[in-house]
Amino acid sequence: MTSEYPVVALVAAAGSGSRLGGDVPKALRELAGVPLVAHSVARLAAGGVERVVVIVADGLQQDFEQALAAAPIPWRLVVGGTERQHSVRRGLAAIEESGSAGVVLVHDAARPMVPPAVVAEVIAAVRAGHTAVVPALPVVDSIRRIRGEASEVVDRAPLRAVQTPQGFAYATLLAAHDHVARSGLEVTDDAACCEAIGEAVHVVPGSRLAMKVTEPTDMVIAEALLAAFPDQILTAHRT
Ligand code: C5P
Repeated sequence: MTSEYPVVALVAAAGSGSRLGGDVPKALRELAGVPLVAHSVARLAAGGVERVVVIVADGLQQDFEQALAAAPIPWRLVVGGTERQHSVRRGLAAIEESGSAGVVLVHDAARPMVPPAVVAEVIAAVRAGHTAVVPALPVVDSIRRIRGEASEVVDRAPLRAVQTPQGFAYATLLAAHDHVARSGLEVTDDAACCEAIGEAVHVVPGSRLAMKVTEPTDMVIAEALLAAFPDQILTAHRT
């Protein structure tokens, strides 16, 4: 099932990015002169993704068309919903309209520097039979659980911080999102949707470079990382 259909990625880019500030939505903010969404699509393509559905806020279609003009793989835009899970569901419907998919990746446009090797490993794990796959990193900070005025330490050894792209067997992700929509559950990521229908989630190693750009300081860190690792700049349409 997973080899005869293309590897498709949904890129969630319909958020406002209010924590980042600025006058353009986060996915259109430029890192080293290239919009975050274009970085993301280039890295997904380099990791083995064959086409992408980019989920955007209504009214911004022209801006995204411009941002993706030099993308290395075919793409289409879909208007997102109020919550991330609604946006992803609309992206899944768009895949259904254009045929089908074997492996589906779901990636946040806000992780513009994900290494292609991580993308490739997620795809390989789905092809190997895991229906839901997440890249994740060990937690480096000490963690405390807050209980009112009190707090207690939490053992961080078994904890992992989950990144994207997350990878799925297409039929599993469709069934998972249908279930979540019907039951009114609120989830923070697509692996959690799959868990809600009883699927096991397989974890592969993530990367510090796949950091999520959320706050203004993250843009500074991302610029510095790109300067330190220039071969990570795969979007060749600007010099
Ligand atoms: O808000 P948060 O940073 O968790 O959003 C993660 C990703 O989901 C971002 O890339 C954002 O553009 C996307 N998103 C979306 N639709 C929404 C909310 C967020 O596509 N309604």
